[in-house]
Amino acid sequence: MSTDTNTEQTGESASDESGGCTATSGSTADSGGCTAGSGTDSGSRKRQSVDEKIDATVEEFDAEPGQLTAVGLGPGHPEGMTQRSRAALLEADHIVGYTTYIDLLPEEITEAAEELYDTPMCGEVSRTEEAIDRALAGHDVAIIGSGDPNVYALSGLALEILESKGATASMVDYEVVPGVPAAQSCSALLGAPLVNDTVSISLSDHLVPMPEIESRLHAAASESFTIVLYNPWSRKRRENFRKCCEILQAHRDPDTPVGIVHSAGRDDEETMITTLDRLEELGESEIVDMTTTILVGNEETYVWDDRMVTPRGYETKYDY
Ligand SMILES: C[S@@+](CC[C@H](N)C(=O)[O-])C[C@H]1O[C@@H](n2cnc3c(N)ncnc32)[C@H](O)[C@@H]1O
Repeated sequence: MSTDTNTEQTGESASDESGGCTATSGSTADSGGCTAGSGTDSGSRKRQSVDEKIDATVEEFDAEPGQLTAVGLGPGHPEGMTQRSRAALLEADHIVGYTTYIDLLPEEITEAAEELYDTPMCGEVSRTEEAIDRALAGHDVAIIGSGDPNVYALSGLALEILESKGATASMVDYEVVPGVPAAQSCSALLGAPLVNDTVSISLSDHLVPMPEIESRLHAAASESFTIVLYNPWSRKRRENFRKCCEILQAHRDPDTPVGIVHSAGRDDEETMITTLDRLEELGESEIVDMTTTILVGNEETYVWDDRMVTPRGYETKYDY
């Protein structure tokens, strides 16, 4: 773990999984052998907020539907994946995901799958629809993502798109297989920073307007929550990070411990424990980018032996 010294680097290599996306219309995804894929008819698109078209409706599929499983991979390394996730992936005919996550899969899983379908970042809606179409066309499909499918990920979108297509979750036996979220894998690398009540906030304003994010930051920082910041930085969102640091400093002491974890469980994993007053300048260093999670301590969090500790309250009841 590094201490807070490396502030000279720049974050030029950083890009963003969702915050840098612009709204597009019309999926061009190849449906990979499915009887109905993405076309040009806007079909049963229901919500204006969904920025890509939901094309084929359930009536366009003749086959007996297969299964659809949203699988969380955990932080990245194969040992960080649960047995249940591994088993679900080994059982899937098709695995669909963001290219980075497909690349993280162990060989035994990629070799067992009949087909892998990956798209670069920003294709969340078309990718999820692709997975659904493949399941409606009779294949057993796993749609994958880092961490847990219920944490800023695609498990909810899958249900929304199924509904938009006139299908049901039961029709494809939809199941969510949990994974270890970044908050927990990063927390483990820092010691014990999240042992008490915690709030997570994403700084990406791709899907949530910035005033709402600011309001949530004020609410969490003004109470004694430890705070997990997801999607903390991208070149296009420098201002969000700066604003976040300003809000946190308005409510918390400058020497509040802050843990930064870059790429937990991956080859370029890096961790740092610093203080709140130094966080903003670290936004321009390589440790803070799209694969970084930041853990902000509460008023009681302290650093002991290079570990962040947030007391659970045992010391108020027990002598030790
Ligand atoms: C779209 S969210 C996905 C979260 C994921 N579903 C989870 O449960 O952790 C992407 C954000 O998760 C965090 N993240 C994902 N993987 C990470 C990792 N290996 N190390 C540190 N942070 C990570 C970063 O904050 C990143 O910007």
